[in-house]
Amino acid sequence: MGRKRHLDDGPAAAMPARADDSEVVPTESLGERAYQVALRPQCFEEYIGQRDLIDNLRVSVQAAKQGDWSLDHFLLAGPPGLGKTTLAHVIGNELGVKVHVSSGPAIDHKGMLASLLTSLGEGDVLFIDEIHRLQAVVEENLYPAMEDFKFDLFIGDGPHAKAVTMKLPRFTLLGATTRMGLLSAPLLDRFGFHWQLGYYELDEMAAIVERSAALLRIGIDSAGAVEVARRSRSTPRIANRLLRRVRDFAAVEGDGTITRAIAASALDRLRVDHAGLDALDRSYLSVVVERFDGGPVGVDAIAASMSEERGTLEEVVEPFLLQAGFVTRTPRGRMATATAFRHLGLRPPGRVPSGGSMQGKLF
Ligand code: ADE
Repeated sequence: MGRKRHLDDGPAAAMPARADDSEVVPTESLGERAYQVALRPQCFEEYIGQRDLIDNLRVSVQAAKQGDWSLDHFLLAGPPGLGKTTLAHVIGNELGVKVHVSSGPAIDHKGMLASLLTSLGEGDVLFIDEIHRLQAVVEENLYPAMEDFKFDLFIGDGPHAKAVTMKLPRFTLLGATTRMGLLSAPLLDRFGFHWQLGYYELDEMAAIVERSAALLRIGIDSAGAVEVARRSRSTPRIANRLLRRVRDFAAVEGDGTITRAIAASALDRLRVDHAGLDALDRSYLSVVVERFDGGPVGVDAIAASMSEERGTLEEVVEPFLLQAGFVTRTPRGRMATATAFRHLGLRPPGRVPSGGSMQGKLF
């Protein structure tokens, strides 16, 4: 079984010193998180992909700076690894304010929220990852903070308790979620806008791989970059992770330069197939195809067969398989498409959905 992907898209480790273009990021000594942080774009100019969102944000940030007001609260939704945390830092840099990073599960009581809110400066960005996992009591106390920039505290206990309203600086709440559907309507209503991050196109992924390789001083030709990009599930975080692994193969088995052949052979050996599916993806597909005859089958039954969390399947595995046309969702459950059968080397029975053509996209 390959390395498991995690739901946790959470707060990154402390930011290492930023590498400018003339600096090499010394990745060998960095853990995975710090490595990913070091490769993050710092400003809109450096950000590749999500064009419509970036264009909208440019306008909002410019308007906020011209008018000297804080940016509206907004919500980013989408699968892990597409850049929600990165965007929070980019926005903070563009606004010239501090970004405070937390997450729904980390804010586990009202006092924790109070201490976060009272540490904010004027105009700062508060990034709350996995905001769908906030407890109800914490969420309710967030409403007046978002709306009126105030926070109600009770000082003392029992009959002598006194309510004190604290005034907060104007701040921007940037919420991130992998599960838009789990957000309550009152919380959703308090965001000025919502945006669903889409998967990256192949040319954008290749550009991200080339940019990261340049920062790391890794030699890569354009076919090598496309090969890494093609196998990265349209997800920059995965591309950057695979790039480091492929670099090792290029150093040991080649002349240090990543070519298409080196990338393909390294990724095959790392059990990432030509469509970018890893062991978990393939296990999901074989359960649906082989154990449940292609479906329809409920996600709980798939999760039980794989001994995997339902949430991991819904938030991490399925979004890409759906997007790439391996699986469809029907009212009676998930169904494997003809593309999935063929991917597993099987002939699709006539009754299964086709899965559509990915020509011009990833495969
Ligand atoms: N590294 C990770 N995501 C990126 C992006 N969207 N643009 C540039 N570099 C990245």
